[in-house]
Amino acid sequence: MSGELSPIDKAKFVAAKRAAQYVEDGMRVGLGTGSTAAWLVRCLGEKVREEGLRFRGVPTSSRTAELAREVGIEVISLDEAKWLDLTIDGADEFDRDLALIKGGGGALLQEKIVATASDQMVVIADAAKEVEHLGAFPLPVEVIPFGWQTTKALVEETLISMDVMGRDTTLRMNGDHPYVTDEGNYILDLHLGRIGNPRQLAMVLNQMPGVVENGLFIDICDAVVIGFGDGRVEVRDINAGTVQQERLDFVEDDNLFGDLDG
Ligand code: 5RP
Repeated sequence: MSGELSPIDKAKFVAAKRAAQYVEDGMRVGLGTGSTAAWLVRCLGEKVREEGLRFRGVPTSSRTAELAREVGIEVISLDEAKWLDLTIDGADEFDRDLALIKGGGGALLQEKIVATASDQMVVIADAAKEVEHLGAFPLPVEVIPFGWQTTKALVEETLISMDVMGRDTTLRMNGDHPYVTDEGNYILDLHLGRIGNPRQLAMVLNQMPGVVENGLFIDICDAVVIGFGDGRVEVRDINAGTVQQERLDFVEDDNLFGDLDG
């Protein structure tokens, strides 16, 4: 089965597999959302089944909750966990300071709440997610449906005075209807090209009425595990200031590679 995986999926898989090593018995672990996080959930499920790993997972979306239960992970809510030892999640972009854009999968609100309530956040990503400047990936902003067009206009007006390259703003759609998040909100995607001052933009966006949260994660991520298509992984820990390179064996495993859907 592994031969059928694209290099990008192999990269996501090895990043997830390496990051699964962070999870220890007794931990409460935030489980991210997206195709890379789905690999992680699969890897952790295998460790639960094959190695007897015992931990509790707090999913960041209904999709992740469903997959986690399916693979045998004990799922609890954030309110039950209260605080987490660790969160592992994907990202749409990360820079050298490990500032992130997240929310491509529409789960940024729960993801940010869960990551912020964790002692440590580890991002898993393929190498293509690394950027010099955030912003090529459209920045997701979660807004409440009430008056969303007014909120959109306010966001667009505010962007005029921000250090960004582009200013197009689109409502995320799901077919003919607005995409609706797990919290019942809409998502505006901000096509900014390059964000000159992510910290300032994140603060300004969150001060607008109607904006619930934005996809900029600043000073939240502690380490990134970067996967490559040939099985290499690089682990960068921003607190320890370390960079480690390893190569993971790429073992064929039908349990992991069957019917994965991010
Ligand atoms: C979901 C996210 C994801 O982590 C992000 O979109 C990356 O997804 P993928 O691993 O599928 O590339 O933020 O809201």
